[in-house]
Amino acid sequence: MIEIRAVSHQIAGTPILHDITTRLPEGRLTALIGPNGAGKSTLLRLVGRLEPLQAGRISVAGHDIAATPTDRLAQVMAILGQQTLIASRLRLAELVAFGRWPHHKGRPKAADRAHVDEAIRTFALGPLAHRFMDELSGGQAQRAHIAMAFAQDTEWLLLDEPLNNLDMSHARALMARLRALVDQQGRGVAVVLHEVNYAAAWADHIIALKDGRILAEGAPDAVLTEDLLSRLYDAPIAVGRHQGRPLVLHHA
Ligand SMILES: Nc1ncnc2c1ncn2[C@@H]1O[C@H](COP(=O)(O)OP(=O)(O)O)[C@@H](O)[C@H]1O
Ligand SMILES: [Mg+2]
Repeated sequence: MIEIRAVSHQIAGTPILHDITTRLPEGRLTALIGPNGAGKSTLLRLVGRLEPLQAGRISVAGHDIAATPTDRLAQVMAILGQQTLIASRLRLAELVAFGRWPHHKGRPKAADRAHVDEAIRTFALGPLAHRFMDELSGGQAQRAHIAMAFAQDTEWLLLDEPLNNLDMSHARALMARLRALVDQQGRGVAVVLHEVNYAAAWADHIIALKDGRILAEGAPDAVLTEDLLSRLYDAPIAVGRHQGRPLVLHHA
């Protein structure tokens, strides 16, 4: 479980998150949704300790993030931020291999190489493994960063808008892979999703953020209602059904 208690956050004196208290259940796929600027990335970055906590407490799988050494925390959770720096003179396979660093600390063993190979295979990156990162398309680079986070092989995986730059088929493949991590390996996944239908189709649990506050949270059927989504996005939104799950429509 990821437990977030009374977390508030300001940037340059402007309040960004207001007294957030919530839980992300273990062994489940949680989607964070909400309009641009809602605070989704800020919340995920605080959990992933990419940003220092100003107020409140966060624990990940029982580890208080304010009191856990970085190398230990990196064995518990992997985070892929929304903006990924592309180290251009790095080959794709070298980037993915960095995901193993918290485990081997500079002395990779056979098991580390196996994790890297598996992550490269999983994201169909084999033919690109020897390319430099600046020789890849946006979607290919995005998949390489996701593969690096997978290779880290942690109890929790945090991804901020991982579907950016991915076509429908790669987006679907990624969501299916995240489901497999949850269903077959009991991992916890937290993912910021821009397109709510991916949350409708794949998430177990949804947290809807607006203006730095939680507007709703719960199962997709409970959160993805016309009333809630229309208030969340300040736009008229219809919700139909497809294969027993909500289907969000915004073409009106
Ligand atoms: N470095 C920054 N400086 C000033 N404001 C920021 C900074 N980063 C984020 N913000 C502001 O914080 C709010 C929440 O941003 P963010 O967490 O990125 O939202 P989301 O991911 O939901 O789109 C936004 O209003 C954004 O403008
Ligand atoms: Mg964001």
